[in-house]
Amino acid sequence: MAPQETRLIFKHIDEEGYTNDIDCYVKNGGYEQLKKAVTMKPEDICAEVLTSGVRGRGGAGFPAGMKWKFLDRKSGKPIYLVCNADESEPGTFKDRQIIHQDPHQLIEGMMCAAFAIQAKLAFIYIRGEFFQGYKILERAIEEAREKNFLGDNILGSGYSCDIIVHRGAGAYICGEETGLIESLEGFRANPRIKPPYFPAALGAYQCPTIVNNVETLCDVKHIIEMGGEGFAKIGTPGNTGTRIWCVSGHVQKPGYYEFACSDVTLGQLIYDVCGGLKPGRKLKAVIPGGSSAKILRADERFTGKLKDGTEFDWGIEDIPMDFDSLMAVGSMSGSGGVIVMDDTTDMVEALANINYFYAHESCGQCTPCREGVPWMRKVTQRMVDGEAREEDADLLKSIADQIAGRTICAFGEAASWPVQSFIAKFKDEFVEKAKEQAARRKEGQEVAKE
Ligand code: NAI
Ligand code: SF4
Repeated sequence: MAPQETRLIFKHIDEEGYTNDIDCYVKNGGYEQLKKAVTMKPEDICAEVLTSGVRGRGGAGFPAGMKWKFLDRKSGKPIYLVCNADESEPGTFKDRQIIHQDPHQLIEGMMCAAFAIQAKLAFIYIRGEFFQGYKILERAIEEAREKNFLGDNILGSGYSCDIIVHRGAGAYICGEETGLIESLEGFRANPRIKPPYFPAALGAYQCPTIVNNVETLCDVKHIIEMGGEGFAKIGTPGNTGTRIWCVSGHVQKPGYYEFACSDVTLGQLIYDVCGGLKPGRKLKAVIPGGSSAKILRADERFTGKLKDGTEFDWGIEDIPMDFDSLMAVGSMSGSGGVIVMDDTTDMVEALANINYFYAHESCGQCTPCREGVPWMRKVTQRMVDGEAREEDADLLKSIADQIAGRTICAFGEAASWPVQSFIAKFKDEFVEKAKEQAARRKEGQEVAKE
């Protein structure tokens, strides 16, 4: 039997008759949690978020309550809240769905969060290409302002805060939080070095700033509703709440599915929820958390210990879909983008496609990334073009090894991990392709000589 989804954030999404206007949202209990939040002490809301254990849904999985705790409240400077809606990780399409179908849920979550951290102003930084989402948000904010859910003296609480929607510049790096802040300030989205200063201490306009993902901010509303402890009961310790998995690739029913953390295994997600692969096809590999996450091979066995000391011995289908389990098998849940590949997939072509993306998106600030990522792209492209060299697999690994850990932002790792993991797990295919192409070239030369 297919495991049951737990729809918290996507509760109303796809429901017949549910529209994205404020009347529909209010009719379905919308803004009740904001009404409750403004009667609470801000520090109590922060404590609930900490108790909930909610981890960032943008990719890094950092505990949101902890991030809020790091906020520099003593500086006397204004505090800003930024919603990172620059969703660009290949394979990820959940935030766009929330914005399109339930924008008020995001606005309510944001206003609860803004009140909790006593933000002076909130921003939604939305991906430049999401023009429709931008229009939907602008309208929704106007509707919420008219009803005094944001703006001056919100619901008579004495607290005032507005939301500004800022359109991104159409670059992946604008989603890196410090690049995003630079872009918000009107500069090129060059990421800043962190540590020592994280945005919680020095963010937008050199003021303390909290940057949270769309899904994380929606969770805040649910934490207020059920309390931190109630929220923590969903999922497992350390992996609380629900996760929206965006499944794409070679499955019969790609789409988004929301499950309590750990409630579904990768095998159940692929076969029971997404209808499995096309007839006659076999699973070859899965990238479980967006293109930056390390690839998992279908015939691997994963053994080790979880954080709590529990030993595991899993095949790919047994892996529970949560932060810690995916980390324990050497990958990550990242932004929730599950990319499924069947046995028709050419791994060289798949990696070439990923490399093409990262080479296009490097901001160029640091040498290993600026030079190394396009070099990796060049190597995989020549393999696709029939010009592979036998040493290319080792060359790719060596370039990736020299990028990871040597750059300003996590983009260096994001671009290197796919290369490192593809070569570690599918080196035979890369070498085989190179040999075949070399033999074909030789044959061609001999024919030409004759
Ligand atoms: P990170 O681990 O450096 O930081 C995570 C968050 O915790 C940040 O907000 C950071 O400011 C905060 N933080 C960490 N330590 C802190 C401290 N000591 N004090 C205060 N705050 C602290 O990871 P990063 O670079 O923010 O995100 C990388 C992830 O983003 C990747 O794993 C990738 O999966 C994901 N990503 C998602 C995309 C999407 O479209 N959703 C696009 C690109 C990447
Ligand atoms: Fe820019 Fe790449 Fe350096 Fe990040 S790692 S700052 S994207 S050059």
